[in-house]
Amino acid sequence: MRKKVSIVGAGNVGATAAHWIAAKELADVVLIDVVEGVPQGKALDLLEALPIEKRDVRVSGSNDYAASANSDVVVITAGIPRKPGMSRDDLLHTNFKIMSDVVQKVVEQSPECILIIVSNPLDAMAQAAFRQAGFNRERVIGMAGVLDSARFRSFIAEELNVSVENVTAFVLGGHGDTMVPLPRYSTVAGIPITELIEPDRLEALVQRTRDGGAEIVKYLKTGSAYYAPSAAAVEMVEAILKDKKKILPCAAYLQGEYGIDGYYIGVPCKLGAGGLEKIIQIKLTPEEDAALKGSAAAVKELCAVIGV
Ligand code: NAI
Ligand code: 2OP
Repeated sequence: MRKKVSIVGAGNVGATAAHWIAAKELADVVLIDVVEGVPQGKALDLLEALPIEKRDVRVSGSNDYAASANSDVVVITAGIPRKPGMSRDDLLHTNFKIMSDVVQKVVEQSPECILIIVSNPLDAMAQAAFRQAGFNRERVIGMAGVLDSARFRSFIAEELNVSVENVTAFVLGGHGDTMVPLPRYSTVAGIPITELIEPDRLEALVQRTRDGGAEIVKYLKTGSAYYAPSAAAVEMVEAILKDKKKILPCAAYLQGEYGIDGYYIGVPCKLGAGGLEKIIQIKLTPEEDAALKGSAAAVKELCAVIGV
């Protein structure tokens, strides 16, 4: 039997994630949204592309969560996106209300599912979803690090004029201005980038990564990025559905790892059929460790505002 993935929020990120899932033939997809007609229309349009793409999955859309029943994975992208001048944190109150409502309805229909949270501000929304769902931490995972690392990887590949396939990179911490790109753990064909890129150029790439979301918002004006974010969420979905045991930077609920207790923050995670199967602890320099703790403090502040 095919796997089932529901995506709540049939907007830019949600609908594009459905597209990637169908194009990769990973699972049947259900799009859910509050706006009548939008999930139905986008799902039907995508379904009609599949004979051309030669992909056998079912794609449907609904305003009723019953359609999402017994999903293996549910990706939550519901909420409002950033507009120019807004930070991810400006979305806090609106998206918290939406997240609480959505998670309650999702869990009623799919009590065994694994949740992948995308809505911003990401780490606080993952924490809100975790509290609301009452699942163990293995089944509530936030998407940010895969996106932030992909941005860093793109910039490194462009800088060195090498294949993106050669570039690995790690960005840890919260999904915001305090994110922690780790050049020491970023490589090109196994060669540390610190040996290939001069320090001032590297610092510019790191800063561009931190500003990666804002750079797109500035161009689009009416919303935020969605191709790379949806691809990133689907990389996590694929790792889970195929039990790949893939190491990816994800927002996970820490219980003492990295000296952080009781908060979501981006760290290297192993994803497989069980969801978050392991948090990988890597050695950080005192500066990196301080940056990660500073990032966690920023997440803690947001969580305190919404009481999660
Ligand atoms: P969008 O506005 O295109 O889509 C959001 C969708 O959510 C809309 O279709 C809207 O009708 C729906 N929605 C709103 N309230 C709902 C509710 N109560 N129940 C069901 N659906 C509801 O926005 P976009 O660009 O898709 O972004 C979605 C979210 O993802 C935003 O919060 C954005 O900031 C976040 N995001 C996070 C990223 C990350 O790295 N974690 C990257 C990109 C976006
Ligand atoms: C991004 O980084 C808006 O969080 C979103 O593009």
